[in-house]
Amino acid sequence: MSFDEETAVRLARRPRWHYREGVSALDPNAIRQDFPILSREIHGKPLVYLDNAATSQKPFQVLKTSRDYYEEINANIHRGVHHLAQAATTAYEAARETVRAHLNAQSVEEIVFTSGTTDAINLVASVLGRSGKINAGDEIIISGLEHHSNIGPWQILCEQLGISLKIIPVREDGTLDLAIYETLLTDRTKLVSINHISNAFGTVNDVNSICHLAKQVGALTLIDGAQSIAHLSIDVQDINADFYAFSGHKVYAPTGIGVLWARRDLLEELPPWKGGGEMIKEVSFEKTTYNDPPFKYEAGTPNIEGAIALAAALNYVNNLGIESIHSYETHLIQELSSILSSIPEVTIYGPHDRSGAISFNIKGVHHYDLGTLLDQMGFALRTGHHCCQPLMARFGITGTLRASVGVYNTIGEVHALGEALERALKMLR
Ligand code: ALA
Repeated sequence: MSFDEETAVRLARRPRWHYREGVSALDPNAIRQDFPILSREIHGKPLVYLDNAATSQKPFQVLKTSRDYYEEINANIHRGVHHLAQAATTAYEAARETVRAHLNAQSVEEIVFTSGTTDAINLVASVLGRSGKINAGDEIIISGLEHHSNIGPWQILCEQLGISLKIIPVREDGTLDLAIYETLLTDRTKLVSINHISNAFGTVNDVNSICHLAKQVGALTLIDGAQSIAHLSIDVQDINADFYAFSGHKVYAPTGIGVLWARRDLLEELPPWKGGGEMIKEVSFEKTTYNDPPFKYEAGTPNIEGAIALAAALNYVNNLGIESIHSYETHLIQELSSILSSIPEVTIYGPHDRSGAISFNIKGVHHYDLGTLLDQMGFALRTGHHCCQPLMARFGITGTLRASVGVYNTIGEVHALGEALERALKMLR
């Protein structure tokens, strides 16, 4: 292999920088050394970053991969015979294989790079709408826990095709009412689209059962994995959905890169989405034929660096071990839950068994005011409706304060948040 081919494969497969073979997965203080932004101060206080459900921070391994891509092999892919074009193509396609392995997909043809989860869901909505698989009078089921990105695309489709949207209700404990779900499923149901983990409440949905039930009425299934990709081990064959979408930036990769996994036969059968370079086989003014998946769905120059950096991020996560990450983060969230429960007049939303995020309000205190005061103390939490306005309406609130964890958060930060909340509440009351 030439130097540049080796570089290409290395960039996509295994980061060289700061690679700490055998580090105990969950030595958060060592892990923190990989994330330069975490040493920042905000308003003169150490940054405590607890907004990981919005976006995660990036380790050196990912940052360096992005930079090395541009410094060493930047070129357009699938187009040139020249050396750099081939090196960039090799790295991009090796990244696709890394994603395939991470999701346990059957083949790389099932991995479509997109700009993120929202883009992936819009892709599916658009091509299903033109596929003849959904027609006037049909129904799509989503849930009351959905992010706007898993509501809006289907509402557009409903208007376009004259179909209707059915909503699985959310119970008082922030979980889905699956008994009602079963009653919503009919032979009119053509698609069920549900998040794996709620970004607002951290509820983990039983996606295997949801998909299983949907298949009994012949409906397609889409899992919005924006929040699960960083916290759970994902096996798309085990979930047995038809589509799974996620964003790189939630899992320590840059923004602007994401993935749609879809069953290969569906990608072959469904019409293309955007038109342009790479998605075509032959073009003439009389008739154009389309490329095979996944290229059929990757019109235009893709986010090459992003895909390669995403592979570096997945390698980073796998080096630590996703199961270890999950149990460590669960420990952090449970500790946060007990701290919050000890504060008088706190309402915590969502079930006890949650993943990644915890949402709460304190009676008499606006979440925005509390979030602003916490920011002054160096704590980054999200306030507001979390792009889930129907869910907020269901609970009769305008928003919450949400703390969401990543692999670099420490138990010390969790305790510090508890103390900061006490201080903030004294000022606000
Ligand atoms: N969906 C992201 C969040 O939950 C932006 O914050």
